[in-house]
Amino acid sequence: MREVAGRTFTSPRLRGEGSGRGLADGASAKREGEGGSTIALFRRQPLTRPPSASRPLPAWRGEVARALTLALALFVAALPAQAQLRGHGGPVRAVAVAPDGRTAISGSFDQSAILWALDRGAAIRVLRFHESAVNAAAALPDGRFATAGADGRIAIWAAGSATPARVIEAHKAPVVALAASSDGRFLASASWDGTARVTPVEGEGARVLNGHHGNVNGVAFAPGGRIVTAGYDATLRIWPADEGPPAVITLPTPLNAVAAAPDGEIVAAGADGSIRILSAAGQVRAELEVGPTPVIGLALSPDGARVGAATIGGAVAIVERASAKALFSLVGPGLPVWSLAFKPDGAELLTGGSDRMVRRWDMNTGEHIGAVAMTRPDDFLAGFKGNRGAELFQACAACHTLTPEDGNRAGPTLHGVFGRRIATAPGYNYSEPLKRMDIVWNAETIAKLFEIGPSHYTPGTKMPEQTIPSREDREALVRFLAEATKPR
Ligand code: HEC
Repeated sequence: MREVAGRTFTSPRLRGEGSGRGLADGASAKREGEGGSTIALFRRQPLTRPPSASRPLPAWRGEVARALTLALALFVAALPAQAQLRGHGGPVRAVAVAPDGRTAISGSFDQSAILWALDRGAAIRVLRFHESAVNAAAALPDGRFATAGADGRIAIWAAGSATPARVIEAHKAPVVALAASSDGRFLASASWDGTARVTPVEGEGARVLNGHHGNVNGVAFAPGGRIVTAGYDATLRIWPADEGPPAVITLPTPLNAVAAAPDGEIVAAGADGSIRILSAAGQVRAELEVGPTPVIGLALSPDGARVGAATIGGAVAIVERASAKALFSLVGPGLPVWSLAFKPDGAELLTGGSDRMVRRWDMNTGEHIGAVAMTRPDDFLAGFKGNRGAELFQACAACHTLTPEDGNRAGPTLHGVFGRRIATAPGYNYSEPLKRMDIVWNAETIAKLFEIGPSHYTPGTKMPEQTIPSREDREALVRFLAEATKPR
């Protein structure tokens, strides 16, 4: 093994040493025990010392969010329809766009993935499979998608199916990054089990890339079959196409993500708030500060000309790679931005973040497509901490409210839904087929809705297809709804 930069240090933090702190507020309690976050969230972290467990994360429902919400809520009401994609009940951790640019997939801390039709700006299907946060997503050249989760599993999804076509269960800890090779034959995954794996999309076997000390946070395919990994141990590793050992490049900061351009250059996202552009051989060519907080999201335009980089502080910079100059920064709500993906023509960028939305940005102007709106923090839900039903409802909250004052969102308010006939919430514009159905909502019918799925139980519905496979979960959700939607 070659230590290119010749620096050695002890691994700052291995899995299991953590404080049990979640990456961001708002996902399930399950995450608590997963060994803590070792995406490097703090800037200029001393490499020899674990990050202070006592420093709280910028919570997505925190004070900043509240202040911003107030400011934004005032002017949002007056603005036209928004182009952002709403549907997740937790921070959007992953986003990927299909090569034809027509569909995208997003993954969230709410444990679901959502398949989106980009032309309509609407959810096609909610994919529930992962047992915890969906951390990563990748698009395959044939239009299929892959997702990976904190449950250590990788799922490959064929169009039109609510269950994965294939499940790869090889990692022993959360998977946090995925990449597809340009020929679509291989998937590379980076995991907090300290390895990256290269798995054939069809067929058995895998190449295990072993060597990082602690979490591997990023992985990318470079030209010629090489693979680049980035770790919390502040190293970038460039693995040859065959079995040989990697080149090891030590950078001054833990790394959260990596991307490789078609010409072989490498871009690494640092916990120090900077991105570094390296030659194919690993020589640092340029360094650019994105913001005062760690860079956690990174994407390259398909032609490799532009880099999108996003920080936990919500800064998003679009950088011209050749000149290493920032072209513009995107003005969002100032909440963490976890994920970015360019559309294949490079004309649009999708970002996913702690505002629970996928936002769309015009890459000619740097402008947000539609108004920059904030969703209200669900203070109401915060009162049900630890309640499984409330946890499940997070996946509904983007579209449904529970209290009379919150009104209708993309879906009708569920306030008073028990005993209510289908399609009768005041002021909501239901689909025609629903108005003709003879269903009264109660514990049984709502459970049935998510047992067989809205498209089967209420054909013609606008609600994206989704099922809750576990009976206990359905019952917990119904119990929560019965309580939370009671007329007051
Ligand atoms: C992406 C948005 C979205 C999500 C997420 C969503 N729904 Fe819906 N839901 C809708 C829409 C839209 C309708 C209205 C359907 C129509 O008119 O075609 C609806 C209708 C309903 C209805 C029927 C309401 C009535 O008044 O007849 C219930 C009950 C419901 N949803 C419950 C849920 C629950 C529980 C969840 C979470 C497990 C959920 N929905 C997730 C969008 C959503």
